Amino acid sequence: MFKNSSAKQATDRIWLEIHSDAILHNMHVMQQRIGKARLIPVLKASAYGLGIRHILPIITRCRQAGETSPLIKCIAVTNADEVTEARSLFGGEILLLGAALESEIPSLLAAGATLPIESVAFAAKVQKHAKRIRRQAKIHMLVDTGMGRLGVLYSKALSLFLDLKQYSNLRLTGVYSHLSNAITPEDQHTLSQILRFTKLSRDIQKHLKASHASGGEKSGGGISHHNVFSGKKNLLFHLLNSDGLHHYSMASFDAVRSGINLYGIYEMKKPGRLPLKPALQLKTKIASIRKLPAGFSVGYGREYTLKKSSYVATLTAGYADGLPFALSGKKGHNHDGKKGHDGLGFHVLAAGCRFPILGRISMDYTNIDLGPNLRFIESLALRPGATITLIGKSKQQEISVEDWATLKDSHSYDIVCSLGKRVKSIVC
Ligand SMILES: Cc1ncc(COP(=O)(O)O)c(C=O)c1O
Repeated sequence: MFKNSSAKQATDRIWLEIHSDAILHNMHVMQQRIGKARLIPVLKASAYGLGIRHILPIITRCRQAGETSPLIKCIAVTNADEVTEARSLFGGEILLLGAALESEIPSLLAAGATLPIESVAFAAKVQKHAKRIRRQAKIHMLVDTGMGRLGVLYSKALSLFLDLKQYSNLRLTGVYSHLSNAITPEDQHTLSQILRFTKLSRDIQKHLKASHASGGEKSGGGISHHNVFSGKKNLLFHLLNSDGLHHYSMASFDAVRSGINLYGIYEMKKPGRLPLKPALQLKTKIASIRKLPAGFSVGYGREYTLKKSSYVATLTAGYADGLPFALSGKKGHNHDGKKGHDGLGFHVLAAGCRFPILGRISMDYTNIDLGPNLRFIESLALRPGATITLIGKSKQQEISVEDWATLKDSHSYDIVCSLGKRVKSIVC
């Protein structure tokens, strides 16, 4: 499944392979699930730490069968710097998710971003800036249907929608909300969020229909609905993220925002409901292999002592690169113990074999146990400079982002976003 990229890493100590075929596959799978709704790739937090400059050129290549125009018309990010970076690579709509700061308004407008609006007060600020530079600012109304983070409360959303009429330089192109517990199927709270959003979308559409039928009602400021609202056809309602898509795809509305699923990663190691392909492989190298005697302790804090003499390999990656410190030697790390090579602890892969991590992970280096058999080690071509897979596949063996997340008692987003600055991204 993964393309080989071996030639490129001659000088790298740790690198992340980003497999574009898998990302494109995942986009097609998601698009199939949501039918006519749009897919909005979420590239916030610098594309979850992978780099907007790496991910955006991949996702804009996506075409549906028989289509020549790109599938993706809109992407989402979270701050003005990300908008500026994305704008240098992408001509479509760039939605700022969450909250815009007042200080960000000028650069967001200059980049033609779509701003989130949760109050009349903020709308007035955007209006002021937009008027000054004689621009129409695109806005999406952010509604809190039960997330408890940002947005106009759903019960006040229709009223805000109507208030937006007064701003002649604002153009409402979308209304959205966010689910707080989409990971749980058939969750009562999620279902009530969906119901609240459905009701709001109907109320807004009813209102738009009535206003269009009457030829565009005049507001206090003499501005017609046609100026302020882009109209039902172009008003995007969106609610779901990746987990929402797995469990509540009936609520896809007009668009779905997906981040983590682009990379074939699920929030946790739970069965996802879409056949996604993992797109990331994290690899490092062996710096040295040494035979250490029984009774010798390995690493800081002397947390692990070899029970038998063994070959210990030191890898050129540590917690500064995103290997979770908390996973140091977690669960069975003894090659002759029950939870050894085949155990469920923190392992790495090479030549289709699993090797346990020994002792504490340090900032730049991590020790693994290759076992006592030199012939076996040589037969696998394990020597200084050899490649080790931290996340990804090696023959029949696989270690996933979700495996790390489970061991760390965290979630996949944390693992991907925690990869260090030294990790080189290589698009394959
Ligand atoms: C508002 C909003 N929508 C969509 C997403 C994308 O989430 P996911 O990566 O689970 O698809 C996020 C990410 O946290 C978000 O904050």
